[in-house]
Amino acid sequence: MKRKRRYFQISLLVVFFIIGVGTGATLAADREVVIEVPLGLPELVSPADNPLTLAKIELGKMLYFDPRLSKSCGISCATCHDPQLGYSNAAPVAVGHQHAVGVMNTPTVLNSAYSTTLFWDGRAPSLEDQAGGPMTASVEMAGCPNEIAQNLNKFAEYRKLSMIAFGEYLSFANIKKAIGAFERTILSGNSAFDKYYYGNQKAAMSEAAIRGKKLFDDPERGNCKKCHTYTKTDGYFSDNMFHNVGIGFDVKLKKGEEYPPGRYAVTKNPADKGRFKTPTLRNVAQTAPYFHDGRTYSLKEATIICLNGIPNNNLDPEYKTKRKLTDRELEDVVEFMKALTGEMPMFAIPAIPGYKQVSN
Ligand code: HEC
Ligand code: HEC
Repeated sequence: MKRKRRYFQISLLVVFFIIGVGTGATLAADREVVIEVPLGLPELVSPADNPLTLAKIELGKMLYFDPRLSKSCGISCATCHDPQLGYSNAAPVAVGHQHAVGVMNTPTVLNSAYSTTLFWDGRAPSLEDQAGGPMTASVEMAGCPNEIAQNLNKFAEYRKLSMIAFGEYLSFANIKKAIGAFERTILSGNSAFDKYYYGNQKAAMSEAAIRGKKLFDDPERGNCKKCHTYTKTDGYFSDNMFHNVGIGFDVKLKKGEEYPPGRYAVTKNPADKGRFKTPTLRNVAQTAPYFHDGRTYSLKEATIICLNGIPNNNLDPEYKTKRKLTDRELEDVVEFMKALTGEMPMFAIPAIPGYKQVSN
């Protein structure tokens, strides 16, 4: 983690240096970086067409905090994915442009670098692709792709940084790439669990958390690990698959309403009805409320729900076995999940171009 902090400090210096001397002649100064991931996280892989570079990460960071990505100029990515709130927020479902209320709970952006598909139904194949969604969604930021880029190109600092990162001014495609690159650096690991399991520090986890881990892992008891997977080489706590836990199937439908389609909306395969992506449980203690509909703020209640699922026609076969944990055992599993809270990425929130200085 210390190293990571140093990396961000160095990266800022390098980028300021590049901007300082930033003329056409020095644009090649941007360079690819390799991020050292915190303990417990797998190796970081970027798409071939979007390698991590210093300028791109800095640019993406500014864009992430810039409310001018939205039509109202009032909502940034950080409004909903707030670094102070585990890169998520405390609302059951998202509230966006003109207070439009969405239907989905906001997942955390932390460690989303390891999610092989994005969104609850997995409709986006990459972080780059995902970033385009909220910018243009009417209930989120309600923006128009070309206008967003045009507006931001009015600011000299954006133009300069984009020239360094991409060799051209901002376009919608470049905005998505820069945000994707920045998000890939939003990593959190080195939790009590990571120290215990990957760092071999047996005192790092409490007795209760160790008991909870056993129940979490045990196929005969909690069996949580089946879907919220971790191995010696991959500690993401999600199998990156889609399962029907039954969330939403206990809600009485009003006329014209349907049960949540989940993955079915993407594949049109009836077997996928009501299946949603297994969320990572890393930092889960910081990202209440839970489930795709944000139905509970309680980790204990979430555990009770996820232990047996909610009955419906397409309930995951995993739930054929009925499971029971005592109250104390449930609390131990919760203690284990609390041990999955990692260290937060450290960086200074960037100055947003044009907010403090007059644009030119
Ligand atoms: C109005 C609130 C809101 C804003 C603004 C917003 N998001 Fe989201 N974000 C959500 C919600 C809600 C979801 C889940 C939607 C779904 O799955 O259908 C989501 C999903 C995501 C995911 C997928 C995470 C996962 O595990 O699948 C990522 C990554 C993400 N947002 C990044 C961003 C970025 C980058 C921006 C800015 C360009 C942004 N969001 C702006 C609410 C918001
Ligand atoms: C069959 C696969 C499966 C098993 C087994 C399973 N989960 Fe889940 N879990 C999921 C899926 C899928 C979701 C998201 C469901 C939704 O919102 O529709 C989820 C959601 C959660 C959430 C909410 C996370 C968030 O960010 O919203 C928690 C907490 C959780 N599970 C804990 C557990 C625990 C503890 C166990 C063991 C007792 C467990 N799960 C067993 C698949 C599973």
